[in-house]
Amino acid sequence: MAKVKKAYFCKNCGFEAPKWLGKCPSCGEWNTFAEEIIARESGPAASAAGGPLPAAKPQRVSEIRESDHRRIDLGNAEIDRVLGGGLVPGSLILLGGEPGIGKSTLSLQIALAPNGLKTLYVSGEESAEQIKMRALRLGIRNEECMVYAETLLENIVAQIAEQKPDVVIVDSIQTIYTELLDSSAGSVSQIRECAATLLKYAKTTGTSIFIIGHITKDGAIAGPKILEHIVDVVLQFEGDSNNVYRILRGIKNRFGATFEIGVFEMLDDGLRGVDNPSEILLTHYEEPLSGIAVGASADGVRPYLIEVQALASGAAYGTPQRTATGFDTRRMNMLLAVVEKRIGLKMFQKDVFLNFAGGFKVADPGLDLAVVAAVVSSYYDRPVSEGVCCAGEVGLSGEVRPAPRCEQRISEAARLGFKRIIVSGYIAKNAKRPKGIEVVPINSIDQLPRALFME
Ligand code: TYD
Ligand code: MG
Repeated sequence: MAKVKKAYFCKNCGFEAPKWLGKCPSCGEWNTFAEEIIARESGPAASAAGGPLPAAKPQRVSEIRESDHRRIDLGNAEIDRVLGGGLVPGSLILLGGEPGIGKSTLSLQIALAPNGLKTLYVSGEESAEQIKMRALRLGIRNEECMVYAETLLENIVAQIAEQKPDVVIVDSIQTIYTELLDSSAGSVSQIRECAATLLKYAKTTGTSIFIIGHITKDGAIAGPKILEHIVDVVLQFEGDSNNVYRILRGIKNRFGATFEIGVFEMLDDGLRGVDNPSEILLTHYEEPLSGIAVGASADGVRPYLIEVQALASGAAYGTPQRTATGFDTRRMNMLLAVVEKRIGLKMFQKDVFLNFAGGFKVADPGLDLAVVAAVVSSYYDRPVSEGVCCAGEVGLSGEVRPAPRCEQRISEAARLGFKRIIVSGYIAKNAKRPKGIEVVPINSIDQLPRALFME
């Protein structure tokens, strides 16, 4: 084995010690020491890839070859869009998500898609037979897909160097380890070291690598935050595992727009892209119901319409209950306070429950107006007029501000056959107004009830 020099560093003050310590003698913090490699001669990872990796040289920007920017079509429209129009060769992509959400399914589908690429799916979680079973379920449409069940980084790098695939998937970073470190797989230093080796490999050979990472209970990608800094793209796969819909969200993208989303449906034979999310997020009711409003949202480049449900019922106890699913509870409380003050509804006497269709989590301020509309409709127990939807942000004084990219939201509402859209009165006067939809501008939320219930 290659000689490596390791030391332990305090994460708080950087104090170096030859062995692990519980308490840092320098800053006095407890449990802050982590193992790190400080020098190495020639690691097996490097030698397996054919000696030390060639050092890159600086080059003039005008002389960099254009072809370095070509993108690879992965053969999956949703993923290609979230990546910003295809995969950039040599990129390192982190795919995070809660256990059981479908990360392995999605990544194996990428490997099996008929995209003409040579793919290598490395699994530290499942055996080759288990992967075969899953592959049969998903359909094998790429004869050049290789599967490798291994957890030792040095072996993985050696195989990547030998097979020279175009795309590598490592499922998951928490299960692989390097023998250079004594700490167990999944520890901070292992994750960092493994990711750094994969990064170096991706950059020098132009191989694109997907790394799968688990998410902890508090929603962060397990392991060090540093993982998010070193990779080029961070994708988060989310959704309610009791529901069939999943969202792939771009959180960071060095090669394209972030906050791009892809929508999938989990079926018996894998994940299917949903081309038209509005259709699944809107329910067609036999008769109008109170407490339901439709918001026009725009996450990424694609606008969609989503249904919001609210229930405002008499509070049984002194302190009213407030629960929101898929929406920030603090923002809901803020909106309820504005409703109380500006429309004069007695919200302090009401328990309020809020829910977004399809188990979607939304963070679009342009949906504020739809949330308020659902609450108002439930409060008065009066259904919103048919064919009405909303797009607008609500401020603390009850003013309605324009939602970002309002024009696209209006067009999407028109396309789906809505008759009227309530928006901020402050949108640009010269904004495009598509035919067939009435645009109702309001400046303050006290004008909302009239706009919602007018026939
Ligand atoms: P998986 O990809 O194993 O999740 P992760 O890697 O994020 O932990 O997905 C597991 C779930 O997906 C499992 O509950 C079964 C379901 N599933 C389907 O509904 N259809 C399918 O075709 C596949 C392969 C899985
Ligand atoms: Mg998995």
